[in-house]
Amino acid sequence: MSGHETTSGAEGGPTRRDFLYLTTGMASAVGAVAVAWPFIDQMRPDASTLALASIEVDVAAVEPGMSLTVKWRGKPVFIRNRTPEEVEAGKKVEMSDLKDPVARNANLPADATASDIDRSAGEGKENWIVMIGSCTHLGCVPLGQAGDFGGWFCPCHGSHYDTAGRIRKGPAPRNLDVPVFSFVSDTVIKIG
Ligand code: FES
Repeated sequence: MSGHETTSGAEGGPTRRDFLYLTTGMASAVGAVAVAWPFIDQMRPDASTLALASIEVDVAAVEPGMSLTVKWRGKPVFIRNRTPEEVEAGKKVEMSDLKDPVARNANLPADATASDIDRSAGEGKENWIVMIGSCTHLGCVPLGQAGDFGGWFCPCHGSHYDTAGRIRKGPAPRNLDVPVFSFVSDTVIKIG
């Protein structure tokens, strides 16, 4: 119902929407993230629209050894530029040592194995890994560059993930999920 809206003098006071922008903006300070704000803004999204949205993230400033967390569909998504050593560590792991030998990679068939390459962005982009930042135990947000395997560590109940985001120790049952994503240019990743 339209009616007329009156804005009473307090212009500049942050609205809930501004707050959403600000918090996302903080993530961008880390690595120059360009999220599709104009698109989302135009939509004035309700929850169902948001659920369909894709985002594009510029990772040009994310050097090897650095990572970035962006918000997508209400969840944190980890984007990490792995060092050659971290990739090597991931490749060395025997499949028989994995608690969850399935890739959990939405870009691959459901039965793909959790090899390092199949957890990563693939041939030529193995250094990049993109995952939903939600521990597969009870959903806490794991910490990056941490844990016994140099990958991620969930402090809630002590789950350790390796540099390919595979669960190696602790109560979490599954590897961290890899969402649908692709490189739309050399430095821009589209998630969703
Ligand atoms: S939620 Fe991560 S270990 Fe329990």
